[in-house]
Amino acid sequence: MRLLLLGANGRTGVHLIERALERGHEVAALVRNPCTLPARGGLDVLQGTPHKLEDVCKAFSVKEQSPDAVIVALNPSRASDSPFSKPMAPPRFMADSVANTVTAMKQHGVPKIVVMQALGVGDSFPNMSVWMRWVRHWTYMKHSYDDHDLVDKEIKSSGVNYVLPRPPWLTNGRSRPVRIFGNNGHGVGSFATISRESVADFLLDACEQDTWDKSTPVIAS
Ligand SMILES: NC(=O)c1ccc[n+]([C@@H]2O[C@H](COP(=O)([O-])OP(=O)(O)OC[C@H]3O[C@@H](n4cnc5c(N)ncnc54)[C@H](OP(=O)(O)O)[C@@H]3O)[C@@H](O)[C@H]2O)c1
Repeated sequence: MRLLLLGANGRTGVHLIERALERGHEVAALVRNPCTLPARGGLDVLQGTPHKLEDVCKAFSVKEQSPDAVIVALNPSRASDSPFSKPMAPPRFMADSVANTVTAMKQHGVPKIVVMQALGVGDSFPNMSVWMRWVRHWTYMKHSYDDHDLVDKEIKSSGVNYVLPRPPWLTNGRSRPVRIFGNNGHGVGSFATISRESVADFLLDACEQDTWDKSTPVIAS
């Protein structure tokens, strides 16, 4: 498959590149700073941001044939890597980036988008732990959850095919088999985790298969 990755130089994004190339896919990555991704066979690195429609359209046109699917692993930038640090991105950074992507998908006839979201988005909120529900509302994490909620609503009404996986707390371990807790995470448990590498594998599975189309699977290890 030909895949366009957004957020490709992030902590999940780099696993996405690795695993996608291992699976034999052709990958295009749209990043603000191309120096962060070393050149390699099968990978086209393009300079730009999904926050600008013209940059997204450019990324769709890099090859004669449009991508078969887009994978989004964006995260609004913050003052540090800690999820509790102050947001530096505009409030609708992910929603606007995904809206630009959907516009370009429609122009180029690209059928599917897979967006990495989080447990707690949309109707999975009641299945977060009490602590995480507090964190979601009363810390800076509110900004990224509000943005993810907008993406969830807007993608579902966009008319494009989608998968919106909802992982819980992310770790940096190796890829492990993934368990799925429906669309809203019933039974996922308060201390559920999943590695970024496992998420990357699931995002690719969701592009390759139609099993989770138009769904929001809560995934954990
Ligand atoms: N932390 C957790 O435990 C947890 C749990 C569940 C779900 N999640 C979700 O997982 C997703 C991915 O997380 P992650 O830790 O892998 O992400 P990350 O390492 O923070 O990577 C974020 C990516 O977004 C890009 N980005 C940020 N601001 C940008 C901007 N203004 N313009 C263009 N690109 C921009 C970054 O590119 P640059 O290098 O150019 O900044 C980078 O590629 C997030 O949506 C997060 O909400 C996190």
